[in-house]
Amino acid sequence: MLAGGLDGRLACQESPGFFDVTDLLTAEAFAPHQALAAQLLAHATEGDDGSHDLAHIHRVFRNAMRIQAGEGGDPEVLAAAVLLHDCVAVEKNSPLRAQASRLAAEKASGILAELGWAEDRIARVAHAVLTHSFSANIPPETLEAKILQDADRLDAIGMVGVARCFYIAGRMGSGLYHPGDPGAEHRPLDDRRYAIDHFPAKLLKLSDGFQTATGRVLAEERHQRLEQFLTLFRDEI
Ligand SMILES: [Fe+2]
Repeated sequence: MLAGGLDGRLACQESPGFFDVTDLLTAEAFAPHQALAAQLLAHATEGDDGSHDLAHIHRVFRNAMRIQAGEGGDPEVLAAAVLLHDCVAVEKNSPLRAQASRLAAEKASGILAELGWAEDRIARVAHAVLTHSFSANIPPETLEAKILQDADRLDAIGMVGVARCFYIAGRMGSGLYHPGDPGAEHRPLDDRRYAIDHFPAKLLKLSDGFQTATGRVLAEERHQRLEQFLTLFRDEI
């Protein structure tokens, strides 16, 4: 849990992660929305998943602000949606996974209502949170929702995406790859058992589905990094 001041470092009271967030996250990390961050960071994450921790929220925020600078949209609605998009944690292999973004949208609405936000702006944040997730499979209809989805998906590709893929595989007890057929040339893909299968099963497809022009440019760069990683990985096994 975090408590933050507008001009000071955020104080970590019960970090659920694996690092002292005071060393990484200052109020300035969420500039120019540090006041909003100070209100919402305590609700931003739950659980002990290092692929969906405060560092993830911070990276998605940076991605979102970068895309917003090129695309427009309401920056405060977007910042709130980023800060609350993973406020309900559901493991990747849970049967409740597809409901995670709906639960997060409901929780986010309650948090913003308590802070006195107007209903129409709460609804815009909730729509973005609801539609950001791959598992929910609901099309984003507003610019802020499209930017959040792009910003979150950018964190699933590139080198950070590689790191998060293997982290999640470790949590689920998966192996790295099938030793007899690592490229899945003579077997169906099984990304529950082999981390490397998650690349063709999902990660290499993500760059095709970006919603904004700015997001697509960033995604293409990270997609190429994914392919470079796979080439180098296969060279070593
Ligand atoms: Fe996320």
